[in-house]
Amino acid sequence: MPNDAAVSSATQESAPQAKPAGPCAMVIFGTAGDLTKRLVIPALYNLTTSKLLPDDFALIGVDIADLSTEKWRQRLTDMMQSFVAGDGEFQTDSIDITAWKSLLARMTYVQGDFATDATFARLGDILQRAEQVHRTGGNVLFYLAVADRFFGPVAEKIATTGLADQQDGKRWRRVIVEKPFGHDWTTAKALNARLLKVLGENQIYRIDHFLGKETVQSIMAVRFANGFFEPIWNRDHIDHVQITVAETIGVEHRGRFYEQTGALRDMVPNHVFQLLTMTAMEPPSSFDPDAVRSRKNDILSAIPPVSLDCAVRGQYGRGEVMGRSVDDYRHEPDVSATSPVETYVALKLEIDTWRWAGVPFYLRTGKRMSKRWTEIAIRFRRAPLSLFKGTNVAETHANWLILQIQPDEGISLQYQVKRPGQTVTLSPIKMSFAYKDWFPPQSNVGYETLIYDCMIGDATLFQRADMVEAGWCIVQPVLDAWASKQPTDFPNYEAGSSGPAAADRLIADAGGRSWRSIGNGT
Ligand code: BG6
Repeated sequence: MPNDAAVSSATQESAPQAKPAGPCAMVIFGTAGDLTKRLVIPALYNLTTSKLLPDDFALIGVDIADLSTEKWRQRLTDMMQSFVAGDGEFQTDSIDITAWKSLLARMTYVQGDFATDATFARLGDILQRAEQVHRTGGNVLFYLAVADRFFGPVAEKIATTGLADQQDGKRWRRVIVEKPFGHDWTTAKALNARLLKVLGENQIYRIDHFLGKETVQSIMAVRFANGFFEPIWNRDHIDHVQITVAETIGVEHRGRFYEQTGALRDMVPNHVFQLLTMTAMEPPSSFDPDAVRSRKNDILSAIPPVSLDCAVRGQYGRGEVMGRSVDDYRHEPDVSATSPVETYVALKLEIDTWRWAGVPFYLRTGKRMSKRWTEIAIRFRRAPLSLFKGTNVAETHANWLILQIQPDEGISLQYQVKRPGQTVTLSPIKMSFAYKDWFPPQSNVGYETLIYDCMIGDATLFQRADMVEAGWCIVQPVLDAWASKQPTDFPNYEAGSSGPAAADRLIADAGGRSWRSIGNGT
Protein backbone atom coordinates (compact mmCIF):
# COMPACT_ATOMS: atom_id res chain seq x y z
CA MET A 1 0.00 0.00 0.00
CA PRO A 2 1.19 3.55 -0.60
CA ASN A 3 2.69 4.95 2.54
CA ASP A 4 4.71 7.93 1.47
CA ALA A 5 2.45 10.92 1.90
CA ALA A 6 3.94 13.04 -0.88
CA VAL A 7 3.92 10.31 -3.51
CA SER A 8 0.60 9.01 -2.35
CA SER A 9 -1.15 12.36 -2.57
CA ALA A 10 0.22 12.81 -6.10
CA THR A 11 -1.44 9.60 -7.23
CA GLN A 12 -4.71 10.43 -5.48
CA GLU A 13 -5.02 13.67 -7.43
CA SER A 14 -7.41 13.23 -10.28
CA ALA A 15 -5.65 12.89 -13.62
CA PRO A 16 -6.20 15.69 -16.13
CA GLN A 17 -9.39 14.78 -17.94
CA ALA A 18 -9.16 14.13 -21.68
CA LYS A 19 -11.49 16.22 -23.85
CA PRO A 20 -14.45 14.63 -25.62
CA ALA A 21 -13.66 13.54 -29.16
CA GLY A 22 -14.91 15.81 -31.95
CA PRO A 23 -18.23 15.28 -33.79
CA CYS A 24 -18.49 12.02 -35.70
CA ALA A 25 -20.58 9.01 -36.59
CA MET A 26 -19.48 5.46 -35.98
CA VAL A 27 -20.62 2.64 -38.24
CA ILE A 28 -20.20 -0.91 -36.94
CA PHE A 29 -20.28 -3.64 -39.57
CA GLY A 30 -21.09 -6.97 -37.89
CA THR A 31 -23.19 -5.30 -35.28
CA ALA A 32 -25.11 -8.45 -34.31
CA GLY A 33 -21.85 -10.26 -33.57
CA ASP A 34 -20.19 -11.18 -30.33
CA LEU A 35 -17.42 -8.58 -30.43
CA THR A 36 -19.87 -5.70 -30.80
CA LYS A 37 -22.03 -6.92 -27.96
CA ARG A 38 -19.38 -7.93 -25.48
CA LEU A 39 -16.81 -5.22 -26.04
CA VAL A 40 -17.56 -2.42 -28.49
CA ILE A 41 -20.94 -1.37 -27.07
CA PRO A 42 -19.76 -1.56 -23.42
CA ALA A 43 -16.70 0.49 -24.43
CA LEU A 44 -18.95 3.13 -26.04
CA TYR A 45 -21.08 3.16 -22.90
CA ASN A 46 -17.96 3.68 -20.76
CA LEU A 47 -16.87 6.50 -23.06
CA THR A 48 -20.32 8.05 -22.58
CA THR A 49 -20.15 7.89 -18.79
CA SER A 50 -16.63 9.30 -18.80
CA LYS A 51 -17.83 12.10 -21.11
CA LEU A 52 -15.34 11.31 -23.85
CA LEU A 53 -17.88 10.54 -26.51
CA PRO A 54 -18.84 13.71 -28.38
CA ASP A 55 -22.32 15.18 -27.87
CA ASP A 56 -22.54 15.29 -31.64
CA PHE A 57 -22.42 11.56 -32.22
CA ALA A 58 -24.39 8.92 -34.10
CA LEU A 59 -24.00 5.15 -33.95
CA ILE A 60 -25.08 3.05 -36.91
CA GLY A 61 -25.09 -0.74 -36.83
CA VAL A 62 -25.01 -2.73 -40.07
CA ASP A 63 -25.69 -6.44 -40.23
CA ILE A 64 -27.51 -9.09 -42.22
CA ALA A 65 -29.59 -10.09 -39.16
CA ASP A 66 -33.27 -9.29 -39.45
CA LEU A 67 -33.56 -6.53 -36.86
CA SER A 68 -35.02 -3.03 -36.67
CA THR A 69 -33.53 -0.07 -34.83
CA GLU A 70 -36.00 -0.66 -31.99
CA LYS A 71 -35.18 -4.37 -31.74
CA TRP A 72 -31.44 -3.67 -31.87
CA ARG A 73 -31.73 -1.12 -29.08
CA GLN A 74 -33.82 -3.53 -27.00
CA ARG A 75 -31.33 -6.36 -27.54
CA LEU A 76 -28.45 -4.21 -26.45
CA THR A 77 -30.36 -2.97 -23.42
CA ASP A 78 -31.09 -6.57 -22.36
CA MET A 79 -27.45 -7.44 -22.90
CA MET A 80 -26.21 -4.50 -20.82
CA GLN A 81 -28.56 -5.51 -18.04
CA SER A 82 -27.27 -9.07 -18.17
CA PHE A 83 -23.77 -7.70 -17.52
CA VAL A 84 -24.82 -6.20 -14.19
CA ALA A 85 -22.92 -8.20 -11.59
CA GLY A 86 -22.03 -10.75 -14.26
CA ASP A 87 -18.58 -12.12 -14.89
CA GLY A 88 -17.87 -10.88 -18.43
CA GLU A 89 -15.20 -8.36 -19.42
CA PHE A 90 -17.66 -5.55 -18.70
CA GLN A 91 -18.22 -5.53 -14.98
CA THR A 92 -20.62 -3.15 -13.39
CA ASP A 93 -22.98 -3.04 -10.43
CA SER A 94 -25.51 -0.88 -12.20
CA ILE A 95 -26.09 0.86 -15.48
CA ASP A 96 -26.24 4.64 -15.57
CA ILE A 97 -29.66 4.89 -17.22
CA THR A 98 -29.25 8.49 -18.36
CA ALA A 99 -25.96 7.72 -20.10
CA TRP A 100 -27.31 4.54 -21.65
CA LYS A 101 -30.46 6.27 -22.92
CA SER A 102 -28.40 9.03 -24.47
CA LEU A 103 -26.37 6.41 -26.34
CA LEU A 104 -29.51 4.51 -27.38
CA ALA A 105 -31.03 7.66 -28.81
CA ARG A 106 -28.13 7.93 -31.25
CA MET A 107 -28.41 4.38 -32.58
CA THR A 108 -29.79 3.38 -35.97
CA TYR A 109 -29.80 -0.13 -37.40
CA VAL A 110 -29.28 -0.86 -41.09
CA GLN A 111 -30.21 -4.36 -42.21
CA GLY A 112 -28.27 -5.42 -45.25
CA ASP A 113 -25.85 -7.67 -47.01
CA PHE A 114 -22.23 -6.45 -46.99
CA ALA A 115 -21.89 -7.53 -50.61
CA THR A 116 -24.59 -5.35 -52.15
CA ASP A 117 -24.33 -1.71 -53.21
CA ALA A 118 -27.88 -1.10 -51.96
CA THR A 119 -26.73 -1.59 -48.35
CA PHE A 120 -24.05 1.05 -48.79
CA ALA A 121 -26.41 3.43 -50.59
CA ARG A 122 -28.81 3.19 -47.65
CA LEU A 123 -25.93 3.67 -45.25
CA GLY A 124 -24.87 6.77 -47.20
CA ASP A 125 -28.38 8.26 -46.77
CA ILE A 126 -28.39 7.50 -43.06
CA LEU A 127 -24.97 9.09 -42.64
CA GLN A 128 -26.24 12.21 -44.37
CA ARG A 129 -29.22 12.33 -42.09
CA ALA A 130 -26.92 11.82 -39.08
CA GLU A 131 -24.87 14.78 -40.26
CA GLN A 132 -27.96 16.97 -40.01
CA VAL A 133 -29.70 15.48 -36.98
CA HIS A 134 -26.64 14.70 -34.85
CA ARG A 135 -24.28 17.33 -36.37
CA THR A 136 -21.54 14.75 -36.96
CA GLY A 137 -19.64 17.06 -39.30
CA GLY A 138 -19.51 14.32 -41.93
CA ASN A 139 -16.77 12.49 -40.02
CA VAL A 140 -17.18 8.72 -39.93
CA LEU A 141 -15.40 5.90 -38.19
CA PHE A 142 -16.15 2.55 -39.84
CA TYR A 143 -15.52 -0.44 -37.58
CA LEU A 144 -15.12 -3.78 -39.38
CA ALA A 145 -16.22 -6.12 -36.59
CA VAL A 146 -16.77 -8.84 -39.17
CA ALA A 147 -15.16 -12.16 -40.11
CA ASP A 148 -11.79 -11.52 -41.76
CA ARG A 149 -12.96 -12.64 -45.22
CA PHE A 150 -15.12 -9.48 -45.31
CA PHE A 151 -12.32 -6.99 -44.52
CA GLY A 152 -11.28 -6.49 -48.14
CA PRO A 153 -14.76 -6.56 -49.71
CA VAL A 154 -16.35 -4.21 -47.15
CA ALA A 155 -13.47 -1.72 -47.36
CA GLU A 156 -13.78 -1.77 -51.17
CA LYS A 157 -17.52 -1.15 -51.02
CA ILE A 158 -17.01 1.73 -48.57
CA ALA A 159 -14.55 3.25 -51.02
CA THR A 160 -16.34 2.57 -54.32
CA THR A 161 -19.61 3.98 -52.99
CA GLY A 162 -17.83 7.21 -52.05
CA LEU A 163 -18.10 6.71 -48.30
CA ALA A 164 -14.33 6.85 -47.75
CA ASP A 165 -13.97 10.17 -49.55
CA GLN A 166 -12.52 12.80 -47.17
CA GLN A 167 -13.37 15.72 -49.48
CA ASP A 168 -9.87 17.17 -49.38
CA GLY A 169 -9.72 17.18 -45.62
CA LYS A 170 -13.11 18.80 -45.04
CA ARG A 171 -14.16 15.67 -43.19
CA TRP A 172 -12.41 12.50 -42.08
CA ARG A 173 -13.23 8.89 -42.85
CA ARG A 174 -11.37 6.12 -40.97
CA VAL A 175 -11.64 2.36 -40.94
CA ILE A 176 -10.86 0.10 -37.98
CA VAL A 177 -9.81 -3.38 -39.09
CA GLU A 178 -10.02 -6.18 -36.54
CA LYS A 179 -7.78 -9.19 -36.24
CA PRO A 180 -6.88 -11.67 -37.69
CA PHE A 181 -5.07 -9.46 -40.19
CA GLY A 182 -4.12 -12.15 -42.69
CA HIS A 183 -3.51 -15.82 -42.12
CA ASP A 184 0.22 -15.70 -42.87
CA TRP A 185 2.80 -13.39 -44.44
CA THR A 186 1.46 -13.72 -47.98
CA THR A 187 -2.18 -13.12 -47.12
CA ALA A 188 -1.31 -10.22 -44.80
CA LYS A 189 0.63 -8.57 -47.62
CA ALA A 190 -2.26 -9.19 -50.01
CA LEU A 191 -4.77 -7.70 -47.56
CA ASN A 192 -2.59 -4.63 -47.02
CA ALA A 193 -2.29 -4.17 -50.78
CA ARG A 194 -6.04 -4.56 -51.22
CA LEU A 195 -6.88 -2.03 -48.51
CA LEU A 196 -4.22 0.42 -49.61
CA LYS A 197 -5.64 0.44 -53.12
CA VAL A 198 -8.82 2.06 -51.84
CA LEU A 199 -7.79 3.80 -48.59
CA GLY A 200 -4.81 5.84 -47.43
CA GLU A 201 -2.58 4.27 -44.78
CA ASN A 202 -3.61 7.12 -42.48
CA GLN A 203 -7.26 6.04 -42.82
CA ILE A 204 -6.56 2.45 -41.73
CA TYR A 205 -6.54 1.59 -38.02
CA ARG A 206 -5.45 -2.05 -37.56
CA ILE A 207 -6.54 -2.90 -34.05
CA ASP A 208 -4.80 -5.16 -31.56
CA HIS A 209 -6.80 -5.14 -28.37
CA PHE A 210 -3.70 -5.88 -26.24
CA LEU A 211 -2.68 -2.29 -26.87
CA GLY A 212 -5.91 -1.19 -25.22
CA LYS A 213 -4.79 -2.74 -21.94
CA GLU A 214 -3.71 -0.04 -19.52
CA THR A 215 -0.65 -1.93 -18.31
CA VAL A 216 0.57 -2.59 -21.85
CA GLN A 217 0.36 1.11 -22.61
CA SER A 218 2.21 1.92 -19.42
CA ILE A 219 5.28 -0.15 -20.36
CA MET A 220 6.63 2.73 -22.43
CA ALA A 221 5.97 5.23 -19.66
CA VAL A 222 7.71 3.06 -17.08
CA ARG A 223 10.73 2.56 -19.30
CA PHE A 224 11.14 6.08 -20.59
CA ALA A 225 9.87 8.28 -17.75
CA ASN A 226 12.29 6.80 -15.21
CA GLY A 227 15.95 7.59 -15.54
CA PHE A 228 17.20 4.48 -13.79
CA PHE A 229 15.87 1.82 -16.19
CA GLU A 230 17.44 2.97 -19.43
CA PRO A 231 21.13 2.56 -18.44
CA ILE A 232 20.59 -1.10 -17.51
CA TRP A 233 18.07 -1.96 -20.23
CA ASN A 234 20.48 -3.74 -22.54
CA ARG A 235 22.67 -6.76 -23.21
CA ASP A 236 25.27 -5.67 -20.65
CA HIS A 237 22.83 -6.15 -17.79
CA ILE A 238 19.97 -8.32 -19.02
CA ASP A 239 20.42 -12.08 -19.26
CA HIS A 240 17.14 -12.88 -21.00
CA VAL A 241 13.49 -11.92 -21.22
CA GLN A 242 10.45 -14.18 -20.77
CA ILE A 243 7.03 -13.20 -22.01
CA THR A 244 4.13 -15.36 -20.86
CA VAL A 245 0.51 -15.12 -21.95
CA ALA A 246 -1.23 -18.01 -20.21
CA GLU A 247 -4.96 -18.55 -20.45
CA THR A 248 -7.20 -20.94 -18.54
CA ILE A 249 -9.95 -20.94 -21.13
CA GLY A 250 -10.05 -23.52 -23.89
CA VAL A 251 -11.35 -22.71 -27.35
CA GLU A 252 -14.91 -22.25 -26.05
CA HIS A 253 -17.37 -21.99 -28.95
CA ARG A 254 -14.62 -21.01 -31.41
CA GLY A 255 -13.48 -24.50 -32.45
CA ARG A 256 -14.09 -23.91 -36.14
CA PHE A 257 -12.06 -20.71 -36.13
CA TYR A 258 -9.33 -22.20 -33.98
CA GLU A 259 -8.90 -25.25 -36.18
CA GLN A 260 -7.88 -22.85 -38.96
CA THR A 261 -5.79 -20.69 -36.70
CA GLY A 262 -3.94 -22.33 -33.79
CA ALA A 263 -2.08 -20.62 -30.98
CA LEU A 264 0.81 -19.28 -33.06
CA ARG A 265 -1.36 -17.33 -35.51
CA ASP A 266 -3.94 -16.38 -32.91
CA MET A 267 -1.60 -14.83 -30.36
CA VAL A 268 2.01 -14.37 -31.43
CA PRO A 269 2.50 -12.06 -34.44
CA ASN A 270 -0.07 -9.75 -32.88
CA HIS A 271 -0.55 -9.72 -29.09
CA VAL A 272 2.72 -11.26 -27.93
CA PHE A 273 4.76 -9.18 -30.37
CA GLN A 274 3.08 -6.05 -29.01
CA LEU A 275 4.43 -6.90 -25.58
CA LEU A 276 7.82 -7.68 -27.07
CA THR A 277 8.15 -4.45 -29.06
CA MET A 278 7.07 -2.33 -26.09
CA THR A 279 9.78 -4.00 -24.04
CA ALA A 280 12.55 -3.91 -26.62
CA MET A 281 12.00 -0.72 -28.65
CA GLU A 282 14.42 2.19 -28.64
CA PRO A 283 13.12 5.43 -27.12
CA PRO A 284 11.13 7.25 -29.81
CA SER A 285 11.97 10.91 -30.39
CA SER A 286 8.40 11.89 -29.45
CA PHE A 287 4.97 10.40 -28.91
CA ASP A 288 4.15 11.14 -32.51
CA PRO A 289 2.35 8.01 -33.85
CA ASP A 290 4.87 7.40 -36.57
CA ALA A 291 7.86 8.00 -34.32
CA VAL A 292 6.58 5.33 -31.92
CA ARG A 293 5.52 2.88 -34.62
CA SER A 294 8.79 3.20 -36.48
CA ARG A 295 10.77 2.29 -33.36
CA LYS A 296 8.54 -0.77 -32.88
CA ASN A 297 8.97 -1.72 -36.48
CA ASP A 298 12.77 -1.44 -36.09
CA ILE A 299 12.57 -4.23 -33.51
CA LEU A 300 10.37 -6.48 -35.61
CA SER A 301 12.64 -5.96 -38.60
CA ALA A 302 15.67 -6.90 -36.50
CA ILE A 303 14.28 -10.30 -35.48
CA PRO A 304 15.43 -13.05 -37.83
CA PRO A 305 12.68 -15.46 -38.90
CA VAL A 306 12.38 -18.17 -36.24
CA SER A 307 13.90 -21.52 -37.09
CA LEU A 308 12.11 -24.74 -36.28
CA ASP A 309 14.50 -25.74 -33.48
CA CYS A 310 13.55 -22.55 -31.66
CA ALA A 311 9.84 -23.36 -31.62
CA VAL A 312 7.74 -25.77 -29.59
CA ARG A 313 4.08 -26.59 -30.14
CA GLY A 314 1.65 -28.23 -27.77
CA GLN A 315 -1.95 -29.32 -27.54
CA TYR A 316 -3.85 -29.81 -24.31
CA GLY A 317 -5.15 -33.14 -23.15
CA ARG A 318 -7.73 -33.75 -20.42
CA GLY A 319 -7.02 -32.30 -17.04
CA GLU A 320 -8.15 -30.06 -14.26
CA VAL A 321 -8.15 -26.29 -14.54
CA MET A 322 -8.85 -24.21 -11.45
CA GLY A 323 -10.42 -27.23 -9.74
CA ARG A 324 -12.66 -28.19 -12.69
CA SER A 325 -12.20 -31.26 -14.90
CA VAL A 326 -11.98 -30.32 -18.55
CA ASP A 327 -11.86 -32.24 -21.80
CA ASP A 328 -8.96 -32.42 -24.16
CA TYR A 329 -8.79 -30.12 -27.18
CA ARG A 330 -9.76 -32.90 -29.58
CA HIS A 331 -13.10 -33.25 -27.79
CA GLU A 332 -13.99 -29.57 -27.99
CA PRO A 333 -16.99 -28.69 -30.21
CA ASP A 334 -16.13 -28.34 -33.92
CA VAL A 335 -12.65 -29.76 -33.44
CA SER A 336 -11.35 -32.81 -35.31
CA ALA A 337 -10.71 -35.93 -33.22
CA THR A 338 -7.25 -36.10 -34.76
CA SER A 339 -6.57 -32.38 -34.88
CA PRO A 340 -2.90 -31.38 -35.36
CA VAL A 341 -3.63 -27.80 -34.30
CA GLU A 342 -1.50 -26.33 -31.53
CA THR A 343 -3.06 -24.70 -28.47
CA TYR A 344 0.34 -23.80 -27.01
CA VAL A 345 3.46 -22.31 -28.50
CA ALA A 346 6.86 -21.39 -27.13
CA LEU A 347 9.50 -19.57 -29.16
CA LYS A 348 13.03 -18.38 -28.66
CA LEU A 349 13.84 -15.19 -30.53
CA GLU A 350 16.92 -13.09 -31.03
CA ILE A 351 16.92 -9.36 -31.74
CA ASP A 352 19.86 -8.34 -33.87
CA THR A 353 20.46 -4.86 -32.55
CA TRP A 354 23.30 -3.26 -30.62
CA ARG A 355 21.09 -3.21 -27.50
CA TRP A 356 19.87 -6.80 -27.62
CA ALA A 357 22.39 -8.97 -29.49
CA GLY A 358 22.87 -12.19 -27.53
CA VAL A 359 19.85 -11.66 -25.23
CA PRO A 360 17.27 -14.35 -25.96
CA PHE A 361 13.59 -13.48 -25.74
CA TYR A 362 11.50 -16.52 -24.76
CA LEU A 363 7.80 -16.28 -25.53
CA ARG A 364 5.07 -18.71 -24.57
CA THR A 365 1.32 -18.66 -24.80
CA GLY A 366 -1.24 -21.37 -24.34
CA LYS A 367 -4.80 -22.25 -23.57
CA ARG A 368 -5.98 -24.35 -20.61
CA MET A 369 -2.95 -23.55 -18.55
CA SER A 370 -2.76 -23.53 -14.78
CA LYS A 371 -3.63 -19.88 -14.32
CA ARG A 372 -4.62 -16.83 -16.34
CA TRP A 373 -1.43 -14.86 -16.26
CA THR A 374 0.31 -12.39 -18.55
CA GLU A 375 3.68 -11.00 -17.61
CA ILE A 376 6.94 -9.75 -19.03
CA ALA A 377 9.84 -10.92 -16.92
CA ILE A 378 13.27 -9.38 -17.35
CA ARG A 379 16.10 -11.34 -15.81
CA PHE A 380 19.25 -9.44 -14.99
CA ARG A 381 22.71 -10.91 -14.99
CA ARG A 382 23.92 -12.30 -11.71
CA ALA A 383 26.27 -10.32 -9.53
CA PRO A 384 29.78 -11.81 -9.31
CA LEU A 385 30.11 -14.12 -6.31
CA SER A 386 33.66 -13.21 -5.31
CA LEU A 387 32.60 -10.76 -2.61
CA PHE A 388 30.91 -13.57 -0.72
CA LYS A 389 33.93 -15.88 -0.56
CA GLY A 390 34.27 -17.32 2.92
CA THR A 391 30.58 -16.76 3.77
CA ASN A 392 27.62 -19.14 3.69
CA VAL A 393 26.57 -17.75 0.35
CA ALA A 394 27.09 -20.42 -2.29
CA GLU A 395 25.11 -18.72 -5.03
CA THR A 396 23.32 -15.47 -5.64
CA HIS A 397 19.78 -15.48 -6.95
CA ALA A 398 18.94 -13.70 -10.12
CA ASN A 399 17.27 -10.30 -10.09
CA TRP A 400 13.97 -10.06 -11.91
CA LEU A 401 11.88 -7.13 -12.97
CA ILE A 402 8.34 -8.28 -13.60
CA LEU A 403 5.81 -6.26 -15.53
CA GLN A 404 2.49 -7.85 -14.69
CA ILE A 405 -0.13 -7.28 -17.34
CA GLN A 406 -3.12 -9.35 -16.23
CA PRO A 407 -5.10 -10.26 -14.25
CA ASP A 408 -3.18 -8.41 -11.52
CA GLU A 409 -1.63 -5.27 -12.88
CA GLY A 410 1.59 -4.07 -11.41
CA ILE A 411 5.36 -4.18 -11.31
CA SER A 412 7.67 -6.05 -9.01
CA LEU A 413 11.39 -6.17 -8.53
CA GLN A 414 13.03 -9.23 -7.03
CA TYR A 415 16.42 -8.91 -5.42
CA GLN A 416 18.34 -10.15 -2.43
CA VAL A 417 18.87 -8.88 1.06
CA LYS A 418 20.94 -10.15 3.96
CA ARG A 419 18.96 -12.20 6.40
CA PRO A 420 19.06 -10.63 9.85
CA GLY A 421 21.56 -12.49 12.04
CA GLN A 422 25.23 -13.02 12.69
CA THR A 423 26.05 -15.05 9.57
CA VAL A 424 26.00 -13.75 6.02
CA THR A 425 23.10 -15.43 4.28
CA LEU A 426 20.96 -13.95 1.57
CA SER A 427 17.22 -14.10 0.92
CA PRO A 428 15.42 -13.16 -2.28
CA ILE A 429 12.66 -10.63 -1.61
CA LYS A 430 10.16 -8.80 -3.73
CA MET A 431 9.29 -5.12 -3.91
CA SER A 432 5.85 -4.82 -5.43
CA PHE A 433 3.65 -2.14 -6.84
CA ALA A 434 0.02 -2.96 -7.63
CA TYR A 435 -2.03 -0.51 -9.67
CA LYS A 436 -5.11 -1.22 -7.59
CA ASP A 437 -3.38 0.02 -4.43
CA TRP A 438 -2.56 3.37 -5.92
CA PHE A 439 -5.24 4.29 -8.40
CA PRO A 440 -9.02 4.11 -8.31
CA PRO A 441 -10.39 1.27 -10.46
CA GLN A 442 -11.79 2.27 -13.82
CA SER A 443 -14.50 0.54 -15.73
CA ASN A 444 -12.64 -0.57 -18.83
CA VAL A 445 -13.14 -3.38 -21.33
CA GLY A 446 -9.95 -2.50 -23.21
CA TYR A 447 -11.52 -0.91 -26.29
CA GLU A 448 -12.26 2.54 -24.87
CA THR A 449 -8.83 4.07 -25.50
CA LEU A 450 -8.58 2.47 -28.92
CA ILE A 451 -11.97 3.77 -30.11
CA TYR A 452 -11.35 7.20 -28.60
CA ASP A 453 -7.87 7.41 -30.18
CA CYS A 454 -9.30 6.55 -33.54
CA MET A 455 -11.92 9.29 -33.15
CA ILE A 456 -9.22 11.86 -32.40
CA GLY A 457 -6.97 10.52 -35.17
CA ASP A 458 -4.16 9.20 -32.96
CA ALA A 459 -2.79 6.03 -34.58
CA THR A 460 -0.02 5.39 -32.02
CA LEU A 461 -1.69 2.26 -30.65
CA PHE A 462 -2.58 0.82 -34.03
CA GLN A 463 -0.50 -1.39 -36.29
CA ARG A 464 0.99 0.04 -39.45
CA ALA A 465 1.11 -2.09 -42.62
CA ASP A 466 4.87 -2.68 -42.30
CA MET A 467 4.55 -3.82 -38.66
CA VAL A 468 1.91 -6.41 -39.46
CA GLU A 469 3.97 -7.81 -42.31
CA ALA A 470 7.19 -7.87 -40.27
CA GLY A 471 5.39 -9.81 -37.52
CA TRP A 472 4.16 -12.47 -39.92
CA CYS A 473 7.57 -12.71 -41.60
CA ILE A 474 9.19 -13.70 -38.28
CA VAL A 475 6.90 -16.67 -37.68
CA GLN A 476 6.44 -17.79 -41.30
CA PRO A 477 9.15 -20.51 -41.32
CA VAL A 478 7.52 -22.14 -38.29
CA LEU A 479 4.04 -21.94 -39.81
CA ASP A 480 5.38 -23.60 -42.96
CA ALA A 481 7.30 -26.31 -41.14
CA TRP A 482 4.42 -27.18 -38.83
CA ALA A 483 1.97 -27.31 -41.74
CA SER A 484 4.17 -29.79 -43.57
CA LYS A 485 4.87 -32.06 -40.61
CA GLN A 486 2.07 -33.39 -38.43
CA PRO A 487 2.83 -33.59 -34.73
CA THR A 488 3.11 -37.15 -33.46
CA ASP A 489 2.89 -36.50 -29.74
CA PHE A 490 -0.38 -34.53 -29.39
CA PRO A 491 -1.87 -34.06 -26.86
CA ASN A 492 1.38 -33.32 -25.09
CA TYR A 493 0.39 -31.26 -22.09
CA GLU A 494 -2.25 -31.77 -19.50
CA ALA A 495 -4.94 -29.13 -19.14
CA GLY A 496 -4.14 -27.11 -16.03
CA SER A 497 -0.38 -27.56 -16.36
CA SER A 498 2.28 -25.12 -17.49
CA GLY A 499 2.73 -26.56 -20.99
CA PRO A 500 4.69 -29.34 -22.69
CA ALA A 501 8.04 -30.66 -21.45
CA ALA A 502 9.64 -29.71 -24.78
CA ALA A 503 9.16 -26.04 -23.85
CA ASP A 504 11.19 -26.63 -20.68
CA ARG A 505 13.95 -28.11 -22.82
CA LEU A 506 13.81 -25.14 -25.22
CA ILE A 507 14.63 -22.69 -22.46
CA ALA A 508 17.03 -25.01 -20.58
CA ASP A 509 19.10 -25.65 -23.71
CA ALA A 510 20.85 -22.37 -23.36
CA GLY A 511 22.68 -22.63 -20.09
CA GLY A 512 20.19 -24.02 -17.60
CA ARG A 513 17.54 -21.32 -17.71
CA SER A 514 13.99 -22.21 -16.72
CA TRP A 515 10.53 -20.77 -17.13
CA ARG A 516 9.12 -18.83 -14.25
CA SER A 517 6.30 -20.59 -12.51
CA ILE A 518 3.01 -19.29 -13.88
CA GLY A 519 1.11 -16.93 -11.69
CA ASN A 520 2.77 -17.07 -8.34
CA GLY A 521 5.04 -14.15 -8.96
CA THR A 522 8.28 -15.96 -8.15
C1 BG6 B 1 -7.88 -13.01 -28.88
C2 BG6 B 1 -7.67 -14.45 -29.25
O1 BG6 B 1 -7.35 -12.16 -29.86
O2 BG6 B 1 -7.24 -12.74 -27.63
C3 BG6 B 1 -8.21 -15.35 -28.17
O3 BG6 B 1 -8.31 -14.72 -30.49
C4 BG6 B 1 -7.61 -15.00 -26.83
O4 BG6 B 1 -7.98 -16.71 -28.48
C5 BG6 B 1 -7.75 -13.51 -26.55
O5 BG6 B 1 -8.28 -15.75 -25.84
C6 BG6 B 1 -6.99 -13.10 -25.32
O6 BG6 B 1 -7.30 -11.77 -24.98
P1 BG6 B 1 -7.53 -11.33 -23.48
O7 BG6 B 1 -7.77 -9.87 -23.56
O8 BG6 B 1 -8.69 -12.13 -22.96
O9 BG6 B 1 -6.27 -11.67 -22.76
